[in-house]
Amino acid sequence: MYGIEILERDHRNIVHFTDCLEEEALKILQGQEINLDYLRESIRFIRLFCDKYHHQKEEDLLFKRMVFEIGDLAKKLIHNGMLVEHNLARSYVLKLEESLEAYEKSPEDIHRLNILSYIMAYVHLLRDHANRENVAVYPFGENHLSQEGKDWVDEETRKFEEDPQTKALYEEFASFIEENPYRA
Ligand SMILES: [Fe+2]
Ligand SMILES: [Fe+2]
Repeated sequence: MYGIEILERDHRNIVHFTDCLEEEALKILQGQEINLDYLRESIRFIRLFCDKYHHQKEEDLLFKRMVFEIGDLAKKLIHNGMLVEHNLARSYVLKLEESLEAYEKSPEDIHRLNILSYIMAYVHLLRDHANRENVAVYPFGENHLSQEGKDWVDEETRKFEEDPQTKALYEEFASFIEENPYRA
């Protein structure tokens, strides 16, 4: 199913990004100065790529159709599981941003600790979340959606992917993205 293949490709890019973020956290732990520019750019990537681009496709297309067609079981899995985790990820990023601001004003150890904590909270959450979707949620959707439902998700995903804004997003964040479908 094209819509799911695209979401899985997003996951590979997101997990690659979490590996880079973890490396940055390790450097901070080992005493390197905090690279505020890199972390702020990471927050922009999280908000525009991981959240707006990827989570929006899940929430508005695949998950929406699963809740509409499959009913209570899908609703429980998505509303009480996946959407709760999307919101938790958003809250960790907000906390990371606040910790960076606090550190910039006053570079104390407590702010360094908070920065490391929220980076790693986000990294672990997103890795586990992507894995849960790959092994449980997406296969559940693919096995229970009607052909019409799958075709609708695929078609809407295609439109989303072909939007010039999507290509611009890949270009803007090329350094964070490993599998770039638009790379020459
Ligand atoms: Fe998700
Ligand atoms: Fe996802």
